[in-house]
Amino acid sequence: MILSDAKPGTLALRARLVSFDGEPAIEPEAVRFIEDGIVLVEGGVITAVGEAEAILPGLSADIRIVDHRPHLLMPGFIDPHLHMPQTQVIGSYGAELMEWLASYTFPEESRYGDPEVAAEASVFLVDELLRVGTTTASVFCTSHAISVDAFFSEAHRRGLRMIAGKVMMDRNAPEALLDTAETGYEQSKALIARWHGKGRLSYALSPRFAPTSSEAQLTATGVLAAEYPDLHIQTHLSENLVEIAFVRQLFPWSKDYTEVYERYGLVREKALFGHCIHLSERERTALSDNGASAIFCPTSNLFLGSGLFDLAAIRGAGIKVGLATDIGGGTSYSMLTTAAEAYKVLALSGQTLTGIDAFHMMTAGNAAALGLDDRIGRLASGYEADMVVLDSHATPALRRRMERCGTLAEELFVLMTMGDDRAVVATYAGGRKVHDRQGFSGQPLEPRPMSRGLVADMPAERPGGGGSAQ
Ligand code: GUN
Ligand code: ZN
Repeated sequence: MILSDAKPGTLALRARLVSFDGEPAIEPEAVRFIEDGIVLVEGGVITAVGEAEAILPGLSADIRIVDHRPHLLMPGFIDPHLHMPQTQVIGSYGAELMEWLASYTFPEESRYGDPEVAAEASVFLVDELLRVGTTTASVFCTSHAISVDAFFSEAHRRGLRMIAGKVMMDRNAPEALLDTAETGYEQSKALIARWHGKGRLSYALSPRFAPTSSEAQLTATGVLAAEYPDLHIQTHLSENLVEIAFVRQLFPWSKDYTEVYERYGLVREKALFGHCIHLSERERTALSDNGASAIFCPTSNLFLGSGLFDLAAIRGAGIKVGLATDIGGGTSYSMLTTAAEAYKVLALSGQTLTGIDAFHMMTAGNAAALGLDDRIGRLASGYEADMVVLDSHATPALRRRMERCGTLAEELFVLMTMGDDRAVVATYAGGRKVHDRQGFSGQPLEPRPMSRGLVADMPAERPGGGGSAQ
């Protein structure tokens, strides 16, 4: 078992190092690439990074050196938006957002009042995140406080830096998932006291989205936000046209969706707004002026037919951007696959995303979107030793394609476009190896008979009729 309190010893990792000191789209010199480099780790923290030939002679003989060459070593991936209780609704057929929530997601989340269900799912999720190289995530649990206990217990046991919160929702969902303005407030407060700042854990206030919270609940959330000005806030904003119309109906006084959150003091630094697809210019300005972050969830936006995230407009407004999986509206745990799909979403609106820019987003960019860029997301002295080792030749197809790559920029672009969990050689968190591709055997597969009706179960028409794509 991994004990998160015992500090790991000194370790030197040798590999091809990639890290970003700033935003490469703005400062190209921010890309740090060392073809033969060493990252020195002591007590879970990076204490030196540099050329192997400069660092090796100074290392004492008893320091363990792990040679990962020719693989790439970079900061662990950061996933700033996903849902712990949705690992068994990923890939649910045929619905746009509101239908998907009602038909699949809410019934599934209703199971998470059972501590065993929440514990089992938390172990699976953490295993899977580490297997794809993700070392930090911002996680929605369910409205059951016990689901947060389950997730944080597991993250703490592994010594991970994780953000999570109890979803608050007091209307427009099944009874089993509803809290109230008072219980949402009280339970969140108790969870903050129990978990926030324990080890590497942080609490996020998590009103699900405006349609499932009454004004009383949003008021109570605003009180919590004012009581804890440094806390993360995570929610959803402007994902789907049906959702937006519903918000207009529920909050007739509001000029747009964003103003609902503004009214209750929820638009601020470290407030993470999932999706942000259909924002007006006024809404973008409001997010930017208040230091909030917009979280781009490409596989989810494609899968649910929600629309195309406008990265140029969001960046142009000066909003911090995160890139996330949104499991389980999103269809992949892998940040590599997520970046590949981001590229395709942008291509559909005449925009682009370089491999360099994408790897920056997955690491230092997401750290900045979370307000954690002083401690994670970079290979630099003083930073927490969360890292991923990537094999850009992991599959026959990658190996063949790499024969035509001559630069790091090309290598990274092809790695994100064709790579996935198979490219993750090892994952380190707090200086400990927490996943090893070699050692991973997975669970034995037990064949399970499927019920009949492969065709009948999947109507050719989507359940709610039309989608909401642009
Ligand atoms: N909006 C409110 N809840 C959810 C959710 O669970 N997933 C997505 N994608 N959007 C949401
Ligand atoms: Zn979400």
